[in-house]
Amino acid sequence: MEQDLSRIGVSLPENLLGKFDEIITKRGYSSRSEGIRDAIRGYIRYYDWMSEVQGERIGILSMTYDHSQRGLVTSLLDIEHDYSAITRSAVHVHISHDECMEVLILNGEGKEIKAVAERIIALKGIKNVKLTTIRPGEEL
Ligand code: NI
Repeated sequence: MEQDLSRIGVSLPENLLGKFDEIITKRGYSSRSEGIRDAIRGYIRYYDWMSEVQGERIGILSMTYDHSQRGLVTSLLDIEHDYSAITRSAVHVHISHDECMEVLILNGEGKEIKAVAERIIALKGIKNVKLTTIRPGEEL
């Protein structure tokens, strides 16, 4: 069944749109709209997957960010301290003059691990956030 389509206007930084256009060209999308629809579907799937993270888990949360972004490091540290009880390790790598990479190894209730990820994702200036979770004892 054909669904009604809504039109939206979105403001994007030029380099973000440029990168996106490069990818959809390489992947052979027929239009930018189709690429955006797919990206949004992927975003929703990832959110749904994260919603199912519960029970005891080991979480690997990685991210990059520009440490010169005002207030960002303080906000990030606030979150990390709020969840110190489930944080087993935090690795910080200075990638370049401005860019940092951080990996948190978390162990605890999946919902808590998810909450850390959600709060970090929402911070302005945080990029490339990835959460992977493992069930302790699970055979793959
Ligand atoms: Ni750094």
